[in-house]
Amino acid sequence: MSSELEGKNNTVWHHATVSRARRERLNNHRSAALWFTGLSGAGKSTLAHAVEEELHRLGCRTFVFDGDNVRHGLCSDLCFTRDDRTENIRRIGEMVRLFVDAGIIAMTAFISPFRSDRQKIRDLLKDDFIEIYCRCPLKICEQRDVKGHYHKARAGKIKEFTGISSPYEEPEKPELALDTGNAPLEECVERIITLLIERGIVKI
Ligand code: ADX
Repeated sequence: MSSELEGKNNTVWHHATVSRARRERLNNHRSAALWFTGLSGAGKSTLAHAVEEELHRLGCRTFVFDGDNVRHGLCSDLCFTRDDRTENIRRIGEMVRLFVDAGIIAMTAFISPFRSDRQKIRDLLKDDFIEIYCRCPLKICEQRDVKGHYHKARAGKIKEFTGISSPYEEPEKPELALDTGNAPLEECVERIITLLIERGIVKI
């Protein structure tokens, strides 16, 4: 046991003896963070859950963090101002880091509209961070309008709505960009699984 990392408030980082490497050996796959980003309605959650199904079938340990769900609990004190979105993403990033340490393939489905917020997570997670851009034109997201939010946003009933009255900054160099507006779901899942195999995260 070592405790060399001193933090704020006289806290000291405690190193587990069951390490990430040992967990990964037990799991027979590596852990990683798959960070899905894109507009509301772009298909982030659908894709993350479909990838999770496939990974589960392959015997991998996984977890999906979903924007709407997390905002019911861990981030229920936050709204959609720029600062609150930054804090939302920061908390998720820290949570995901713990899940990656726990040997899990963690997937996140948050709009995460700001490049600088995503960059902070990339810096935190380094090679474990795999950014997946769910590229879907606003027009299609708006046509889908699964939750009716776009309609309300256009009517001014929801303020600072991403794509309408708040910006979405596209990733510049995502590990993957998928056209979730028209590409079939199975094809998107396959591209992600292929990437995970190429990176040695999962074996088949
Ligand atoms: S993020 O910007 O902080 O990453 P997050 O992914 O957690 O957003 O939450 C997005 C979900 O919250 C949307 O899918 C939508 O259902 C809901 N929502 C409610 N208000 C807004 C808003 N102003 N902008 C975007 N999404 C909103």
